[in-house]
Amino acid sequence: MAGRIPQTFIDDLLNRVDIVDIIDNDLPLKKTGRDYQALCPFHNEKTPSFTVSQEKQFYHCFGCGAHGSALVFLLNHRGLSFVEAVEEAARGVGLEVPNDGRTAAPKTDYSPLYEVLARTQQFFVQQLKDHPDRDRAVNYLKSRGLSGEVAKRFGIGFAPDSWDALIKAHRTDDQAQQNLAKAGLVIAKDNDKCYDRFRDRITFPIYDRRGRVVAFGGRIIDKGEPKYLNSPETAVFHKRRELYGLYQLRQFDSNVVRILVVEGYMDVIALAQYGVNNAVATLGTATTSEQLETLFRTAPEVIFCFDGDAAGGRAAWRALETALPLIRDGRRAGFIFIPQGHDPDSYVREIGPDVFTRTESIKPLSEFLLDKLAGKTNLGSIDGRARFTDLAKPMVVKIPPGSFRQLLIQRIAEIAQLDPLVLSNSYSNRRRPRAPARAQRRGGPPSIVNRAVKRLLFDPKLAAHVLDTQSIADLPEENVGLLADIVEFCRDHPHITTGTLVERYRGTEHEAVVAEQLETPLELDSEAESIEFLQAIDSLRRKAGHTSVLTRAEAEMRRRTEDTG
Ligand code: UTP
Ligand code: MN
Repeated sequence: MAGRIPQTFIDDLLNRVDIVDIIDNDLPLKKTGRDYQALCPFHNEKTPSFTVSQEKQFYHCFGCGAHGSALVFLLNHRGLSFVEAVEEAARGVGLEVPNDGRTAAPKTDYSPLYEVLARTQQFFVQQLKDHPDRDRAVNYLKSRGLSGEVAKRFGIGFAPDSWDALIKAHRTDDQAQQNLAKAGLVIAKDNDKCYDRFRDRITFPIYDRRGRVVAFGGRIIDKGEPKYLNSPETAVFHKRRELYGLYQLRQFDSNVVRILVVEGYMDVIALAQYGVNNAVATLGTATTSEQLETLFRTAPEVIFCFDGDAAGGRAAWRALETALPLIRDGRRAGFIFIPQGHDPDSYVREIGPDVFTRTESIKPLSEFLLDKLAGKTNLGSIDGRARFTDLAKPMVVKIPPGSFRQLLIQRIAEIAQLDPLVLSNSYSNRRRPRAPARAQRRGGPPSIVNRAVKRLLFDPKLAAHVLDTQSIADLPEENVGLLADIVEFCRDHPHITTGTLVERYRGTEHEAVVAEQLETPLELDSEAESIEFLQAIDSLRRKAGHTSVLTRAEAEMRRRTEDTG
C-alpha cells in the first residue's frame, strides 16, 4: 500500500479492535481475574507470565519484558510490517485502510511490460531451439552438465549475436517497441536508435513471486566480459527485492521448511538438477532484509551457502547482521560452508547433494556468531572474556526479545563465566532517552514528570482530573510537553487505552520516552497512587507559579484515604 496511514485511522482502528481477540487468535488466552494470561510467545517459560489487559488494550510479559499494543503484537509475533499489521487488524473489524493521499500515486498498469517480458522469454527459448547458432549455446550448456529437463524448468534461452534480433521480433507492434525499452530489454542510443541489451548470451529469466517474468540475467558463452549481464532496475524489477528461483521453489513444494541461499543462477540450477530443489539466489548483491523477510515468510529456516574462504566468511558475517533483527521464535538461520575454490554448482557435481540436504552440514547462526567473536579474544583471561561480552553486545541488541535471544545470552554468559541475569541486564536494549534524561536516571529514581507520564499511560482516565495543562507545558523540566500532550489527548478521548496511546507516539520524538515508561508495568488501582499522580501535577503547577489547585476529585480521594488510614 502506498502512502501514509492517517493517525486518526489508527486511533479509530485501535478503538474497534480488541487485543484479546487478536492475541487469542495466535495463542489461547486464559482469563485470570480482570486480565488474560498465556505462556509468553517471546521467551521460553513453563508458567505463564504473559498478561493481556483488555481494559488497557495492552500486553506485557513479566518474564521477558515484551509489551505493546495489538499492532505491536502483530508486528512481533507474526513478523508483519507496520502497514501489514494495520491491514491485518483492519480486516478483522471490517475496516478499509485509507491513506492520506499525499503519496498515493495513481495505480499504474504494468501489464504491457509483463507482456513484452513474457514474449521476450518465448523468443529466447525459441532461439535456443531454432537459431542457426544454437549449437554454440547448447554445447556450452552441455559442457556445464545441464540436463535438458532442468534447462526447461528454469526457462533457459539464447539471445543471438545480433543488435536487433529482439527488436525485429517485436517489429509489428509499435507499443511493444516502447515497452521493450521500459522493460530494460533494449537500450536507446542518443539518436533514438535502439539495440538489444542481451546479445550472444545464455538467458536466465527472473520470475517474480507470482510467476511473471520481470527481468533476465544473461551469461556470456564461454569467456568474455562482463560474465553476467542483468536487466536494469525497472518499474517491475527491483533486484534487492527479487530472488532467483523462489517461484520455481514454491511451484515444487508449497510447504518448504528450509531454503538455501546461494550466490549464482548456475548454483540454483545445478542444485535443482541434483534434486536439491530448495535453493534461491540473490541477484548479484548481498541478501537484503527485504529478501530475507520474504524467505522467512516462505519457510522457517534459511541457510546461507558460502565459500569457506575469507570472502565467504565476510559475506556470511554480513548475512548474519542482516538476519539478527529478523530472528523470532520459530525462525532459524544457519550456514553451510563449502570448500575453497568450489561453489555449490561445482561442489554438488563433485560430491553429490548430501551436503546440501543434511542438517549436520549446517552451522547454526548462533554458533557461527560465537565462534567468530571467540576467535577475536582470549577467553582464558578476564580481560578477554570481558571483551567477548562487549563484542557480543551490538549483535545481541539487534535480536528481538524471544527465546533465541535469551538462549544466546545464556550461552554468552556461560562462555564469559558471568551470571546470565546480570549479563542480560547489561544487554537490555531499551531505547535510551537523550542525554539529560539519562543523567537524571543515573542520579536516582525517575523524574516526577516521567512518573506522571507513566501513570497516565497506564491509566489514561486520570487525565480527567487535571484542571489545566497550559501552566505546566512551559516548564523547563524534561518531557513536560509530552505530559501536557498526553493529558490533553486523554481528556479529549475519555475512552482511550494504553494501546492506543503508544501507537499515537510511534514515529514521533516522544516514542523512545513513551516506550521506556512502558517497560515495566504499573498497577494503578489504588487511590493512593492516583493521588500521587495528582500531587505531581499540582507540584508542577506550583512550580510554574500557580497556586495549588486541588481538584475536587483529589480532595475527595484524599479525605477518603485519610478516613481509612
Ligand atoms: P558467480 O561468478 O559466482 O556466478 O557470480 P556463477 O553462477 O558461479 O557463474 P558461473 O558458474 O561462472 O556461470 C554470482 C552471481 O553474481 C552475479 C550473477 O547474479 C551471478 O549469478 N554476477 C556475477 C553478475 O551480475 N555479473 C557478473 O559479471 C558476475
Ligand atoms: Mn559457478
